[in-house]
Amino acid sequence: MNEIIELINKANHEYYILDNPTLTDQEYDRYMQELIKIETQHPEWVRDDSPTKRVGNEVISEFKKITHEKPMLSLSNVFNEEEVRLFDEKIKKELIPKYVCELKIDGLSVSLLYEQGKLIRGATRGDGITGEDITHNVKTIKSIPLKLKNPLDIEVRGEIYMSKSSFNKLNELRKKNNEELLANPRNAAAGSVRQLDSKVAASRKLDCFIYHLPNPENYNIKTHYDSLKFMKDLGFNINPNIKLVNNIDGVIEYINEWTDKRDTLPYEIDGIVIKTNDFDQQNKLGFTSKYPKWATAYKFPALEVLTKLKDIIFTVGRTGQVTPNAVLEPVRLMGSVISRATLHNEDYVLTKQIKIGDTVAIRKAGDVIPEVVSVKKERRTGIEKDFVMTDICPICHTKLEKKDTAYYCVNNNCDKKKIENLIHYVSRDAMNIEGFGDKIIEDFYNMGYLKNIVDFYELFKYKDELMELEGFGSKSITNLLNSIENSKNNSLERLLYGLGIRYVGNKTAKILAKYYNNMDNLIKATYEELLNIKDIGEAIAASLVDYFKDNNYVIEELKKRGLNMTYLGKVDVNEEFKDKTFVLTGTLKNITRFEAKEKIETLGGYVTDSVSKKTSVVIVGDNPGSKYNKAQNLGLTIWNEEQFLTKISK
Ligand code: IVH
Repeated sequence: MNEIIELINKANHEYYILDNPTLTDQEYDRYMQELIKIETQHPEWVRDDSPTKRVGNEVISEFKKITHEKPMLSLSNVFNEEEVRLFDEKIKKELIPKYVCELKIDGLSVSLLYEQGKLIRGATRGDGITGEDITHNVKTIKSIPLKLKNPLDIEVRGEIYMSKSSFNKLNELRKKNNEELLANPRNAAAGSVRQLDSKVAASRKLDCFIYHLPNPENYNIKTHYDSLKFMKDLGFNINPNIKLVNNIDGVIEYINEWTDKRDTLPYEIDGIVIKTNDFDQQNKLGFTSKYPKWATAYKFPALEVLTKLKDIIFTVGRTGQVTPNAVLEPVRLMGSVISRATLHNEDYVLTKQIKIGDTVAIRKAGDVIPEVVSVKKERRTGIEKDFVMTDICPICHTKLEKKDTAYYCVNNNCDKKKIENLIHYVSRDAMNIEGFGDKIIEDFYNMGYLKNIVDFYELFKYKDELMELEGFGSKSITNLLNSIENSKNNSLERLLYGLGIRYVGNKTAKILAKYYNNMDNLIKATYEELLNIKDIGEAIAASLVDYFKDNNYVIEELKKRGLNMTYLGKVDVNEEFKDKTFVLTGTLKNITRFEAKEKIETLGGYVTDSVSKKTSVVIVGDNPGSKYNKAQNLGLTIWNEEQFLTKISK
C-alpha cells in the first residue's frame, strides 16, 4: 500500500505541478483502484496522506475555529505608477531594496500546516487572527501536496483559486440545471471551500499557488525569492511568472507587461504584488497594524464598482424603443463619474431581480456604456421597491407595443424619437456633420428649425436668425452650414446608415451601398432579392422594404436638395482584403485607426474588435495589447504598420 501511495503522489506532482505526466491515465486509475481495495479491506491501515482523501468523502458538522500562529496580514494598495514610486521612496529612506514581483491571484488565501512533511491542517484567513479549519476541502485540491519531499514541520501560505475554464464549465453546468450562476471565479472558489461536504470542493477543480513562508528563519533562508525556490523543491505549486528585479523601474516594467498580458492567463489576477526580497530588510521595515511595510499590492483599475440604485427612469431611443435606466448614486469608474446606467429591457431587470433601492455592481460595457451587472441581495434592508415596466411612452404618452423583449413607442410624431433620429443623422459614422451636439439638435428641434432630416438642408435660409441665438456667432453658424453642405457629397452608405432604418447598422449600410451602387436600385429591390445578399437576413430585408414603402418622399426631398445617392467607394476590391476580417491593435504612427478601418472596408474587408480563429489578419502597431499575443498563439497572419501601408497603396 505504501508503495502505491508513493507512486500516486509522485504522479500527482508530475501532473498538477510540473505539468509533465509520466503515468498514463489508465495506469493511474489502476493504482487508485488497487489502493481503494486495500483500504476497504484494511481500514485500520488508511493513511492521512492517502490520495483517496482527495476524492471528497469527508463531511464535517461545523467549521472549527483556529488561531494563526502568526497573523495573516493583508496588503496595502497602490493604484498608479506615482503611488508605486512613493512606496519605493519610503523604503529607500531606510535601505536599498530589491523587489520580487508577483501576480496577485484573485482567489482566497489559505494557510497550510505540515507536520513531519504531512498536511495536517488547511485554514482560511478569517479576520487574520482566527480562521476556519477547511482541511477536508483542502485535501481535495490536487496541486496541494499531502506529503512533502522532506519530513519538515512547516507552515506555508498561498491562494486557492479556480481557473477561468473550470469556472466557465461550472457555470455552464449550473445553467443547464437551472441553478443560480456564480458571479466570478473568486466567489466560486470561496464558496467551494466553505462547504461542509468535501464532495463539492472535490468536484470543482480548484487550484492553489503558494507565495509566502511565514517562518523562513527556521530553514535558514535569507530572501523571499529563495523561499519560493525552497517551497517549490518541497513540492508546492509556485507561480511561474514571478520575477526578481533590481529597482522600482523593473517593477513598473513588470506591471506594464502584465497589465497587457493579463487576459492571456488561464486564471484571474486583480493586480501585482511587490515584495522586498531580503528578509533582514523586511524585518527592518516591519509592519503597521494591518499591513507589512515591505510589500504592497498594485491594483488594476476597477472594472466594476458598487453603488446605490436610486430610481429607474425610462428613455426613448431613435427606434422608439423605451429602455429602463438606472439612476445611480454617482461613483467613479475607470476615470469618469457615473450616475446613469442602462438596464437594457424589462427582462433584464426581472431576471437579475433588480429593485429600486438596491446596491448594485456596475461596469462599462465594451468600456463605454455603463450597465448594471448584478445586485447585492445580501445588502437589502426590506424597503426596496419592485420594478414595474411602463406601458406608455414617457414623452408622448402613447401606449407602447411589445416586440420580443422590447417595448416601442409607435407614434412617429413622438418628439424624443425625432430628436434621436436627428442626432443619429449627424453622427460621425452617419453623415458626419460637425458642430452639432445633442443639445443643439434638441434646441433647434424645439425652436422649430429642425423637424426632420430634410430640414438640415433648409437651415441656411435662417442663417441670420441663427447667428442671433445665444451661444452662436457668425463663425460657428457658417461652419455648421458648410458642414451640412459638404455632407451632400457623402457616399451612399453614410446616408443609408443616417436614415436610421431599423437593423441597418453602418456595416450593413456599406454592404447594401456596394451591392446596389445607387439608391434607386436599392429602393426597387424586393424582399427576396435582398435575402440573396450575403449577410442580409430576414429582419434586415423586411425592415428595408417597410422603410422604403413609407419613406420614399424623404428620399425624394433629399434628392431635390442635391444629396449624392451613389456609392463612391472603390468597387474593384483588393484580393488581400476582400471578405477578410481584420483586427487592429497598438498605436499606428502614420494613419489613424478610423482611417485604417475605412480603408480596409473600402477594399472589401471587415474590421472587428476581438481576435479569434476566424480573424484573417491582425495589424500590429506600437505597444500592442493582449490581442497580439492571442494572434501569435492562434498562429494568425500578422502585419506590422509598414506592411499594412504597402498593401493598401497597391
Ligand atoms: S502576499 C504578508 N502574494 O492578496 C503577505 N498575497 O490583498 C501576504 N494575494 O490576503 C500576502 N496573490 O489573499 C501575496 N502573490 C501574492 C498574492 C497575494 C494574491 C492575496 C492574498 C492577500 C491579498 C491582499
